[in-house]
Amino acid sequence: VQWTAEERAAIQGVFAKLDYESVGIESLTRCLVVYPWTQRYFGGFGNLYNAEAIMSNPKIAAHGIVVLQGLEKALKNMDNIKKTFTALSELHSEKLQVDPGNFQLLADCLTVVIARRMGTDFTPDIQAAWQKFISVVISALRRQYY
Ligand code: HEM
Repeated sequence: VQWTAEERAAIQGVFAKLDYESVGIESLTRCLVVYPWTQRYFGGFGNLYNAEAIMSNPKIAAHGIVVLQGLEKALKNMDNIKKTFTALSELHSEKLQVDPGNFQLLADCLTVVIARRMGTDFTPDIQAAWQKFISVVISALRRQYY
């Protein structure tokens, strides 16, 4: 994958404004509420009864940060996202057995949250670069599935 200087700057810019804690909670909560079947992977997280319960669940809060830190790893290794995510892909496939279709769903929730936060700063060009980044991340996460 090739990145233009503009794309790199756009993606850096999105990350620079991200508050990992609140964006992590909000996007994970949206995913679990909008696509409730994704809750099955978080059986050990306790109460996920409704949006309020999910939002105030400390395990969800912690995990939201973990997911964004994972994405930050992709940002820091933009020229080698596939290799960077080999182990993470294996974990989601073999150990967690997460259906790979769910990656796009969580990513879409994250994009909604970012768009809301950034408002008019989330221009079509910024979104285009962001979607490209997310697509590369998802394809890397799907890579160890067979
Ligand atoms: C764990 C990232 C999507 C379910 C993790 C970890 C990271 C991560 C960094 C921690 C790995 C470790 O402990 O070594 C991501 C990224 C995603 C993504 C970047 C895509 C944007 C998903 C989706 C699901 C999911 C869609 C399920 C619907 C889980 C579960 C764990 C986990 C259940 C283990 C949680 C625990 O027990 O603490 N993920 N993930 N992930 N992920 Fe994902």
